[in-house]
Amino acid sequence: MGYQNILVETREGVAVVTINRPEKLNALDDRTMEELDDAFAALAADRSVRGVILTGAGEKAFVAGADIGELARQSPVEGRERSIRGQRVLDRIEKLGKPVVAAVGGFALGGGCELAMACHVRVASENARLGTPEAKLGIMCGYAGTQRLARLIGKGRALELLLTGEMVDAPEALRIGLVNKVVSREKLLGESEALLRKMLANGPVSLRFILEAVNSGLEMPFAEGQYLEATLFGLICTTEDMKEGTKAFLEKRPPKFHGQ
Ligand code: COA
Repeated sequence: MGYQNILVETREGVAVVTINRPEKLNALDDRTMEELDDAFAALAADRSVRGVILTGAGEKAFVAGADIGELARQSPVEGRERSIRGQRVLDRIEKLGKPVVAAVGGFALGGGCELAMACHVRVASENARLGTPEAKLGIMCGYAGTQRLARLIGKGRALELLLTGEMVDAPEALRIGLVNKVVSREKLLGESEALLRKMLANGPVSLRFILEAVNSGLEMPFAEGQYLEATLFGLICTTEDMKEGTKAFLEKRPPKFHGQ
């Protein structure tokens, strides 16, 4: 698929996906969502890609939401389908099996905030402003924002943001756990990459299994999550990475992981 609204660049195992509609503050129209779906499917399958940074073009926005022009003219059936399609795209990102860092440089509103929450960690610039203003438009989150926000920052804080539709600035987003780190705008991509590369220095199978245990475990009763963890722990004991990681520690040298 030829991309019109996103850019994908890969360097030394890290793919940078940039949503590239700065004149519309990177709003997510249907075309952009299809391109993201296609790009993340390809990144999942590409073994040379070990982690992803997702960001928005321009100085003002990560993503200022779903495209309101499209939302304004949808029928109930189309709205439901758009919501299901969008949820699938964000699920694909969350379940990529490799770490995804959202580099949030500016507004992350509505669908943009939902997209950032589907990533595994969020680095924000000092000018970032995040929120779920859908209620101000007479609508509500449709890309699982009501579900992810409450899981990420807790029910009370999530309901405050969802019901007021107000934005929070970067320090407040950091305080409530909506973002992991705040840095200057100039350093946003560099710091996001540095954080991602810290993760990528670890065992690739470890990363995959940790993501699976946390993502799937949060959807299960605690005891089932423990069962999943113990099963994955048993499985990881069979890997070359486990042998190499423990041996390297005992031999006082850095490990060389191969993701096997
Ligand atoms: N959908 C479609 N277009 C959008 C958009 C969105 N979610 N957000 C911004 N845009 C467009 C604007 O319509 C404008 O286009 P135009 O130049 O053709 O008129 C362009 O992006 C720039 O936005 P503008 O509103 O002029 O910038 P601003 O700096 O004055 O305000 C925001 C920035 C983010 C406060 C404002 O754009 C906004 O409130 N956007 C909608 C946020 C929202 O409700 N998102 C949830 C959607 S479900």
